[in-house]
Amino acid sequence: MAGIVVEGLFKKFGTTEALSGFDMEVAEGSVVGLLGPNGAGKTTAVRILATLARPDAGRATVGGHDVTVSPARVREIIGMAGQYASLDELLSGWENLYMIGRLRGLSRSLARSRAEELLGVMALLDVAQSTVKSYSGGMRRRLDLAASLVGDPPFIYLDEPTTGLDPASRLELWQIVSSLAKQGSTIVLTTQYLEEADRLADRIVVINKGRAVANGTATELKHRLGRQVIEARPAQQGDLEALGATLSRVTDNPVQLDTQQGLAMVRGASQADLARAATALAAAEIEVAELSLRLPSLDEAFLAITAPKEASEPPR
Ligand SMILES: Nc1ncnc2c1ncn2[C@@H]1O[C@H](COP(=O)(O)OP(=O)(O)OP(=O)(O)O)[C@@H](O)[C@H]1O
Ligand SMILES: [Mg+2]
Repeated sequence: MAGIVVEGLFKKFGTTEALSGFDMEVAEGSVVGLLGPNGAGKTTAVRILATLARPDAGRATVGGHDVTVSPARVREIIGMAGQYASLDELLSGWENLYMIGRLRGLSRSLARSRAEELLGVMALLDVAQSTVKSYSGGMRRRLDLAASLVGDPPFIYLDEPTTGLDPASRLELWQIVSSLAKQGSTIVLTTQYLEEADRLADRIVVINKGRAVANGTATELKHRLGRQVIEARPAQQGDLEALGATLSRVTDNPVQLDTQQGLAMVRGASQADLARAATALAAAEIEVAELSLRLPSLDEAFLAITAPKEASEPPR
């Protein structure tokens, strides 16, 4: 079965262009992290892939089925846990899952056993008979995820599944998603957390203002920026300014001084810059406690990619 192919999606709400030529490919059995800031178009893209919204232009297929031509076929093979959980507050966790199983066409006994199985996986057996109203945020997220898995769909969309969760609940959810991925599900995960994308996704698509502005593995994205960072820390805090001045003589890039941390930083540096810096600092007799060249963090990469001034000009 084919994975997910998205080509040139456009979607307008009034005058707001939520998607403006969005492209994405997800290989079958892989996890893609759709990473972008608020309003980037993540939920809109996922809703179109879930046949809950129609694109104005462009095309998307899931498992070979076109979302606008054969929405019913697409719905049969997907499960979605939304940014806004779609549970019935007045029913218990068990009743929610049983009802969805029946709606999905499972027999009574199958719906019952599937509900119990998923409540077990999500560690919700203790609260299975309590109304959802009484659930914590973490329990709701887990139940919502369980609801999306009732029909055992090969394609799973998770729209910001861990937003608002405490660190422990987030870790639990990550483990569940990892095990789904290991079982071969194809997963689209939207998130604003770089760490989450880094951890769960095989590939990351960075979306900004309705367009994919970068994609690759986390490491590729860090490399793609191609710019490394020199960090230099003087042994004596009082030497920081002199150290900064020396660095600015050997590189064309701006030198940033962090007086709080007693650190000088040069972004967009090369290995040759580092060698020149070492020589110049030695010549100036400035003793350094630390002098290093590192890749930008994923945070730095993400900020550079989505920074407003660069938004109109995606990197390479
Ligand atoms: N139903 C709607 N009616 C009007 N505008 C909408 C609608 N849905 C989305 N938008 C707008 O489209 C843009 C993209 O929204 P979308 O919800 O897809 O972003 P997102 O990446 O999911 O953001 P967030 O991280 O906040 O969830 C935003 O400017 C949003 O205000
Ligand atoms: Mg959203």
